[in-house]
Amino acid sequence: MIDRIANTEESEEEKVFEDTLRPNDFKSYIGQSRLKQNLKLAIAAANKRQEPLDHVLLYGPPGLGKTTMANVIANEMSAQIRVTSGPAIDRAGDLASLLTNLKDNDILFIDEIHRLNRSVEEVLYSAMEDFKIDIIVGKGPSARSLRLDLPKFTIIGATTRAGALSAPLRDRFGIIHRLEFYTPEEIEAIIRRAAKILDVPINKEAPSILANRSRLTPRIANRLLKRVRDYADVNGDGMINTDIARKALNLLEIDEIGLDPNDRALIAAIIDHYNGGPVGIETLAAITAEERSTIEDFIEPYLMQIGLLERTPRGRKVTPKAYKHIKGVEQLRFGQ
Ligand SMILES: Nc1ncnc2c1ncn2[C@@H]1O[C@H](COP(=O)(O)OP(=O)(O)OP(=O)(O)O)[C@@H](O)[C@H]1O
Ligand SMILES: [Mg+2]
Repeated sequence: MIDRIANTEESEEEKVFEDTLRPNDFKSYIGQSRLKQNLKLAIAAANKRQEPLDHVLLYGPPGLGKTTMANVIANEMSAQIRVTSGPAIDRAGDLASLLTNLKDNDILFIDEIHRLNRSVEEVLYSAMEDFKIDIIVGKGPSARSLRLDLPKFTIIGATTRAGALSAPLRDRFGIIHRLEFYTPEEIEAIIRRAAKILDVPINKEAPSILANRSRLTPRIANRLLKRVRDYADVNGDGMINTDIARKALNLLEIDEIGLDPNDRALIAAIIDHYNGGPVGIETLAAITAEERSTIEDFIEPYLMQIGLLERTPRGRKVTPKAYKHIKGVEQLRFGQ
């Protein structure tokens, strides 16, 4: 999975690369205009009332800019941001010490918030609602419960799976927002911006070639730019032109709608073995040797977005458009 260009998960090395490209204010954060409008309003209102911003939950497929947006919010509010993640908070005590160390108006960003364990989650409820927590001090018969006042902080939670969040937790967020896939034009703008920051010369047409193959996802767009830059450095004079872009992308086996061999294998498997579906997700995981979560989080959302795959009560089904696409790719490959 790690080597897949279309894998929307980020590696350690990539983290550093991504940080240099992360927009840090609303102005440089491209797209997601509805989200930006809502947040700008909420921030202005909070500032006016001198209150902390409502807790914010951002959800949607990986690589669309949830972490980036959390940082933008902090920056726009001139607030301090602390970063943690669901699996990193083991015990209720860990959360208590995180929260008691915050200051008024600080932001606590909890990534993968659907992976908080139950006992931690329960402490979070009262913290989010009343800015208070109850902690147990001492052990055995002398143990007693102590109520602590917390600073007025804001939680920003991020998750790829809003459905995996418990209802009581979800209800405690005042602002809940789904990040959408970007338009090809927005992705083009993101590529141009990244090329400028990285000082990569790129011609007028190449950004749109890359954009069409980026799965409407900024993380993949930036990753493709990086790989194409490598190709341009080795096989040319460093300039990304149309020819270089096409050749580099073909070498990566990414087709013109951004599918990699694994996506095509998934679609082909449904067509060849199940007559186009419907087929259950577990079966699909078994025949493609992918984890169920990989299919659900990384592969499927984009295939559904572009109308190649459908989710039905009885399983996944490919669309006529998927048949057409797979056939087209095969014809190209075998020259039929
Ligand atoms: N709106 C945007 N404009 C420009 N670049 C963006 C935008 N959104 C994301 N990016 C770029 O895409 C990269 C990935 O975004 P980010 O890490 O915020 O995704 P994420 O939604 O948090 O993903 P995950 O679910 O894997 O945590 C960032 O490094 C950033 O450079
Ligand atoms: Mg993230």
